[in-house]
Amino acid sequence: MRYFVLIAALLASPVVAEETAITPPVSASIEEGLIAWDRVYEVTSHPRCSNCHVGPSNVPMWSGPSYDRTRPHGMNINAGESRIGAEAVLCSTCHAYREDNANNLPHMAPQVAMNWQLAPVEAEWFGKSSDEICNQLRDPDRNGGRTLTELIEHLSHDLILHWAWSPGGGREVAPYSLEEHMNDLLIWGSAGFPCAND
Ligand code: HEC
Ligand code: HEC
Repeated sequence: MRYFVLIAALLASPVVAEETAITPPVSASIEEGLIAWDRVYEVTSHPRCSNCHVGPSNVPMWSGPSYDRTRPHGMNINAGESRIGAEAVLCSTCHAYREDNANNLPHMAPQVAMNWQLAPVEAEWFGKSSDEICNQLRDPDRNGGRTLTELIEHLSHDLILHWAWSPGGGREVAPYSLEEHMNDLLIWGSAGFPCAND
């Protein structure tokens, strides 16, 4: 319960959250950490996340039941090394930010943030196993150099993440909730970032 209070404060007010340093509870055991990790993996491997977290092909994916088959993004879209499509067609050409409900329609481009773009190559999750993603996320060289606290704060600030839990347009919602996901990361980190292959 203690965790939830902290997370609620984070979500409600990022500014206050920065001043109130999150102290990871020391009570999480390795077993609890591994159980929390299994839930984190269900999220990171979900199409609403992994479709953008692709590797050096620079090609976003269309996958998940709402896309009747798994395939590369249509229309020959390639994000390039810029990851925003600067080399060819910018992602924001179609994925701009709109306040109306355009993304509630099936097969419309999600329009939730101007910075819609691929995740960094190091954060490649599409098709990766639980152990692979677990080792990536705890490695500062591949997680954007973030501490546990920074990882969690990063999640709460990101519009794209909020979209993944309310995507509309018949798309499957990412499992659990943003709050529960942040809480699971907190438990996993407090347990010392265990991975099943340790
Ligand atoms: C020409 C318009 C267009 C451009 C440019 C474009 N997209 Fe898309 N994108 C779409 C459409 C349309 C869909 C939804 C297709 C559907 O639901 O059948 C989509 C869906 C996606 C999805 C799947 C989201 C989900 O449902 O999980 C991802 C990921 C994505 N685009 C990433 C990108 C990235 C990254 C770029 C830039 C490199 C980009 N797109 C550029 C039109 C575009
Ligand atoms: C539209 C594409 C897109 C989608 C969809 C997306 N991400 Fe990301 N993700 C990014 C980008 C871009 C970054 C890099 C942001 C930065 O470093 O500031 C990122 C970085 C991250 C990071 C930082 C860790 C790292 O290894 O760099 C985490 C954690 C993360 N995303 C989680 C998620 C989760 C969980 C979901 C689904 C609920 C998700 N993302 C869906 C684009 C996306």
